[in-house]
Amino acid sequence: MKSTPLLDRLLQIEAEDITSFHMPGHKNGKIFKKFHYKNFKQHLANIDTTEIIGTDNLHKPKEIIKQAQERASEAFKSEETFFLVNGSTSGIYSMIMAATSPGDKIIIGRNCHQSVINITILGDLTPVYLYPEMDIEKGIALGISPEEVERRLIENPDAKAVVIAYPTYHGFASDLKRIAEIVHSHGKILLVDEAHGAHLGLSHRLPMTALECGADAVVQSIHKTLPAFTQSSMLHVQGNRIDREKLKFMLRLHQSTSPSYILMASLDLATTIYQDYGRELMEELLYHVEVFKNKMKDIEGVTVLGTELVGKHFIKAMDTTRLWISMHHQGIDGYELERRLRDKYRIQMELSNIYGVLGMTSIGNDKEDFDRLYTGLLDLSQHKEDKGKIEKMPFFSYSIPKRTFTPREALYKPKKKVLLEDSIGHISGEYFIPYPPGIPILIPGEVIEEEMINYVKTMVARGMEVLGLKDITCQRIEILTD
Ligand SMILES: Cc1ncc(COP(=O)(O)O)c(C=O)c1O
Repeated sequence: MKSTPLLDRLLQIEAEDITSFHMPGHKNGKIFKKFHYKNFKQHLANIDTTEIIGTDNLHKPKEIIKQAQERASEAFKSEETFFLVNGSTSGIYSMIMAATSPGDKIIIGRNCHQSVINITILGDLTPVYLYPEMDIEKGIALGISPEEVERRLIENPDAKAVVIAYPTYHGFASDLKRIAEIVHSHGKILLVDEAHGAHLGLSHRLPMTALECGADAVVQSIHKTLPAFTQSSMLHVQGNRIDREKLKFMLRLHQSTSPSYILMASLDLATTIYQDYGRELMEELLYHVEVFKNKMKDIEGVTVLGTELVGKHFIKAMDTTRLWISMHHQGIDGYELERRLRDKYRIQMELSNIYGVLGMTSIGNDKEDFDRLYTGLLDLSQHKEDKGKIEKMPFFSYSIPKRTFTPREALYKPKKKVLLEDSIGHISGEYFIPYPPGIPILIPGEVIEEEMINYVKTMVARGMEVLGLKDITCQRIEILTD
């Protein structure tokens, strides 16, 4: 048989028996060893079907898909739930376009996922940004202040909706309940990107869910923190601020006409696990996390973020299932730490930056996973290498760039590519999205500043990924020509 490079690599990685502190939430299928419902894994190829007699239709659900969505609605405590097979991205597109019309203004947390900005292009919207508090040194977004939301609403009475990411990648939860009260008191719609919080309803020790806080529509990446296959997400709605018929149309617009039955079935299965075993598994997970974090306190040179930031920087609560681990005081930067954990201990984390690594845990992780991580970190802490001082992240102020055009206007204007250093003072036709943290520091239509160019060049030279440029070497950027 001819070489199949993609499949071969995936099988090779599978054979490595890696401990997963990354997405998806089923942890390389580990949880399905416990919950092997009707041996579904053996049937995957056979149940990969389409709309035939007996399989219902996602875009006009009347039978099994309707039942599965209703079960999910009950489990996740929404009024109505829709299955998403094109990731949370398709849900974000749909809820924002359902809440707005072309030409509308929308208030958006600047630490949003790029899909939120992208839909302003498709939906012809003018974004107004809310700035989260930032840990400028580490480049991490913290909380969004309710007062900042109110200020933006007063300044922009014509805005139709507010979009907030809750919780953040690192697990920080703003005071969403207060934000919801403010947004609703101004007669606006609150849309929440809860991509990282599908598991929050499983314990009162976790931040409240966005629905509990009063959000009108919420998108959850079930695949990120619960046992569903990658791309499987849900959109939940409550109340009457969102036009449900318009929302259904938008879902048809943004989702495939050949939705994967395997993904939909995985959402069905995740619902059952969530409802029947989720709370118990979450208690176990929170116990393992606590034990792990306590043991780590005794290891010199390794720091693990606890709840010390709650109550500061507009952080109301913390998703403690996230592990932000740093060894930079010991001379190991986050990139190196991620690489060593993988190479030496067969542990894969979710992401890294200069300061540390982020681990995503889920109800699919067990004691063995935490023990392996503890052993690896202990071992690393005992093999000190004097690598000299770690270079700091270059300073970046995260100030608001001047906007000349909306992202959509900028997209359709004539452009030319120039070297980054020649772009200062020009209007950008592209994004700068340093990843992590994935917060766009430049959006099409905004004026390029010297600080951004210095930051991006330094970051790229240090091996950090910067998304959003057509030039994959990140040497050139498109600017508007007129
Ligand atoms: C905060 C946030 N929102 C939305 C998304 C998009 O989710 P999906 O990959 O399921 O489309 C992501 C993806 O990582 C994300 O981090």
